[in-house]
Amino acid sequence: MSHLKKYGIFKSLIILAYWILQKIPYVKKAMWHKALYPFHHFLYPKNPYLWAFIGENVIISRKAQISNSRAIALEDGAWIEDHAIVAAEGGTIRLGKHTHILPYGIVKSMGGDVEFGEYCTVNPFCVIYGMAGGLHIGNAVRIATQTVIISSNHVFDDPNTQIRQQGITSKGIKIGDDVWLGAGVRVLDGVVIKRGAVVAAGAVVAKDVPEMAVVGGIPARVLKWRDAEVAARQAQ
Ligand SMILES: CC(C)(COP(=O)(O)OP(=O)(O)OC[C@H]1O[C@@H](n2cnc3c(N)ncnc32)[C@H](O)[C@@H]1OP(=O)(O)O)[C@@H](O)C(=O)NCCC(=O)NCCS
Repeated sequence: MSHLKKYGIFKSLIILAYWILQKIPYVKKAMWHKALYPFHHFLYPKNPYLWAFIGENVIISRKAQISNSRAIALEDGAWIEDHAIVAAEGGTIRLGKHTHILPYGIVKSMGGDVEFGEYCTVNPFCVIYGMAGGLHIGNAVRIATQTVIISSNHVFDDPNTQIRQQGITSKGIKIGDDVWLGAGVRVLDGVVIKRGAVVAAGAVVAKDVPEMAVVGGIPARVLKWRDAEVAARQAQ
């Protein structure tokens, strides 16, 4: 009763509702998450216990959005800029040395493992999901803006069942060293892009790309070769 007198009936009801809600574990977690969000960068300091691994000279910019840091490994000099999202949801993420996620770049594990080698860049508005099959990206891979790399497909075999109910498949995607993906490229599930390949802006990569090839179009086909020796070998 003293409580009622002190706060009035309206405030008391709000306090009661809050007290009941925060007894539900999920709600409690969400409330904490929201309440603590402004202190995000204090919650994710470069404390080795909060990360799977954290190297020297790593930069996690103040407004970067990190989730499940315990499944994220950041090697020396890795850099996640403001407004980039790096989320290890049901999988793991590794950024190799000096790999750089620019603002609004999105890297999510989504149930699989995402591994970047050294000196990779993920430019603004890229969407990169590991999914069950996972994603392996080599060293020095340049990923231009608005590129989408998602290693999964919906199953749609049964025309009488909604696609959303038919599940998904995921084989995984592999990208070799020194590959350049131009702006707006889409890489489909199961594809392997070999060392030194260049993918032209706007391409949809549905099949494996040989090393040192320059591919483009929808679906992507070889436009030319970067290396005369490799071209001669391929022509045989
Ligand atoms: C792939 C790319 C590098 C090729 O450049 P290039 O070596 O100067 O090649 P060319 O312009 O001589 O083009 C070679 C052929 O590929 C074709 N081609 C070039 N870019 C293409 C594209 N994006 N999609 C489809 N075909 C393309 C050309 O029409 C040409 O065909 P042709 O021989 O029948 O005339 C360039 O076209 C490209 O897409 N760059 C990406 C730019 C980008 O995304 N920048 C973001 C910042 S990282």
